Amino acid sequence: MTSKTPSPAEQIRQLRETLNDWSYRYYVLDEPAVPDAEYDRGFRRLQALEEKHPDLVSPDSPTQRVGDQPLDAFQQVRHRVPMLSLSNAFSDDELRDFDQRIHERLDVREKVVYVAEPKLDGLAVSLLYENGELVRGATRGDGETGEDITANVRTIKSIPLRLRGDNPPSVLEVRGEVVMPHSGFQELNRRQQQAEQKTFANPRNAAAGSLRQLDPRITAARPLEFYAYSLAQLEGEPWPDTHSAILKRLRALNLRVNPEIKNCQGIEALLAFYHDILERRDRLDYDIDGVVYKVDRMDWQRDLGFVSRAPRWAIAHKFPAQEELTVLNEVDWQVGRTGALTPVAKLEPVQVGGVTVSNATLHNIDEIRRLDIRIGDTVVVYRAGDVIPKVVRAVPERRPKDAREIHLPDQCPVCGSEILRADDGVVARCTGGLICGAQRREAIKHFASRRAMDIDGLGEKLVDALVDRNLIDNVADLYRLKAEDVAGLERMGEKSADNLIQALENSKKNSLSRFLFALGILQIGEETAKALADSFGDLQSIRRAPLLLFLEVPDVGVEVAKAIAAFFAEEHNETVIDGLLKAGVEPQSPGQPAAAFVKRFSLASMLRAAKRLGMDLEGIGEKTLESVGRHYGSWPELLKALQAKTSETAPGIKAGTLDKIAAALDKGDWRPRLEQAWEQAETLRSRAPEDQAGRPLDGQTWVLTGTLSRLTRDQAKAHLESLGAKVAGSVSKKTARVVAGEAAGSKLDKARDLDVSILDEDAFVHFLNGHGISVS
Ligand code: IVH
Repeated sequence: MTSKTPSPAEQIRQLRETLNDWSYRYYVLDEPAVPDAEYDRGFRRLQALEEKHPDLVSPDSPTQRVGDQPLDAFQQVRHRVPMLSLSNAFSDDELRDFDQRIHERLDVREKVVYVAEPKLDGLAVSLLYENGELVRGATRGDGETGEDITANVRTIKSIPLRLRGDNPPSVLEVRGEVVMPHSGFQELNRRQQQAEQKTFANPRNAAAGSLRQLDPRITAARPLEFYAYSLAQLEGEPWPDTHSAILKRLRALNLRVNPEIKNCQGIEALLAFYHDILERRDRLDYDIDGVVYKVDRMDWQRDLGFVSRAPRWAIAHKFPAQEELTVLNEVDWQVGRTGALTPVAKLEPVQVGGVTVSNATLHNIDEIRRLDIRIGDTVVVYRAGDVIPKVVRAVPERRPKDAREIHLPDQCPVCGSEILRADDGVVARCTGGLICGAQRREAIKHFASRRAMDIDGLGEKLVDALVDRNLIDNVADLYRLKAEDVAGLERMGEKSADNLIQALENSKKNSLSRFLFALGILQIGEETAKALADSFGDLQSIRRAPLLLFLEVPDVGVEVAKAIAAFFAEEHNETVIDGLLKAGVEPQSPGQPAAAFVKRFSLASMLRAAKRLGMDLEGIGEKTLESVGRHYGSWPELLKALQAKTSETAPGIKAGTLDKIAAALDKGDWRPRLEQAWEQAETLRSRAPEDQAGRPLDGQTWVLTGTLSRLTRDQAKAHLESLGAKVAGSVSKKTARVVAGEAAGSKLDKARDLDVSILDEDAFVHFLNGHGISVS
């Protein structure tokens, strides 16, 4: 007996079948058969085989989703069966009328069976399959003629390129909605913002913009999903008798159908479905703007027919609008923890999505100018879920003659201090700092909050009461409170007063990163606070650190470094911190600087940091600074060379470079600043733990590519370095492993070519966790 390896054609056929099956179970059944990584491996095997045998590539292969030619324009497509619209019901009563009409027209008395479907708020799309193969995708257009978006729909992973099964119908035209899930939408806007590209107002616009791209590679990078909801043409097999049977058949063919869809018998069941899903609406990962009910029996659908452009057998039951019109009566300015002023719109009360709204956010003064909103204007307010309602725009046609422009106040409405606009010009701040009651209150609230010092029982109202009664002035005063001071405030009993004092006591031993976050330093979120705590290892080192050293902390840029240094330079803040320490607050920290952190310090890195902070090293590039750093090795050596005024040159250092550095050091106070930074760096270096010999990744070179979502590049790099690895910028045969995030490009291809081991983000996080590095 001989066991024969299957022919390449057979291998390719089998791989495609397996991949299609996995994708069916993932998208349609929602029951993944294998981990994503296994799918990816199969996918790459198929890619490799097809590369070797280009004649075996077919357009319905899972590898053929993205072509590489952008279009000049979309072709027009005439719909063989027009794409209709739906009539609407806006209330329970209007829905009862609909059900009533159905009974009358059909002349039946029993309860009618309907299919209830969420009305997805995306774009209607029609897909044509011939002999199981996706041959065309089109937009709705005017219902008669749409646009050919075949290349784009092919990039949507939940749209199969080939229908499942051995006996697909000869012709099948399916219709459905393309939507962008909320999670993907937020991520997309984040990416767009980073790339300084336009962001989208809502997932629907984003989906529309993504589908109507002439370059399908752009569509491919957008998180779009498809849900099928009706059948327009079917040949080669009989039409099912009911709409629910159609959906079932579509599912069997690997077309994704929304899991919320239900059969409902009679009007009460329809209303129950509606109210249930309305209530859960905010928890779905996609936008819906109502419910669609369809008569289930196809013979009844045919009997009922159409009026003008809408079927009589279906109706859309719309949710209450999330947008409403009302009048802007006044604008109040609120002062936040950091002194930032935010405009709050005082509105004529209006019902939006079932809730009365009388306050809404207006973002900032620039936004007000941009939208040209004035007091007295009729404005559009938008409210979704639990988020704060916002004013979207004004309706200029309804502007009264006496409408007033909105101005930023010159003085803080709380403390009367001057208002200044920061360098970036967007945020206006009260300069009162802790004199300003509003800022003091907000600072204390932030300090006590769950993610900061997490002081149980110290809520916003209690902070207000404590400040109002002059019991506390700053956060250090909290630790001088006694149970009898607070008992009786804000309905506090003795028991809760005792609990509060205990909670304060417990908070004294919080981690240094919580403590730093709790201080409310501008620009310092939880991540940066953690990076600072981990890098320096204790509070005193941070308090003493010169600005230059902050730039060595992962993910800390110039603005953030300046904010940290400015905070600790402020005498008042130092007093409060001393007060906290004296009261017994004892932030818990490693006590030692991190080895990976001190390893970053070098003469070159220090000069680079100085340049970023404005030292005049114009014309001296990164490479030269690197060479200077390597050649002299330390600040004292560089100083010596500068003093000796040698005309010495070294590899990579042009003549004149040292003179330029000497001149730059003498402009301003760069000499003492670098001196001090170097000394501090040396102290930290001496206190860092010895580089443990034999770290797990010693001697390995790793490469990071693509976008990681759970950690930044800098963090990933720092973690790898702490394990002993070098992180390089390009892939070679010597690369140990490549970490490939979202949208990885040529480096990933190169890694595959060279057969370098590749980790996706999940596997990488898993790997880090396995080495005692926690990434959530
Ligand atoms: S059925 C002839 N079902 O709503 C019936 N439409 O106003 C055709 N829509 O443009 C539509 N979810 O894009 C149907 N479950 C659903 C739907 C749905 C969203 C959209 C569709 C159409 C619009 C009709």
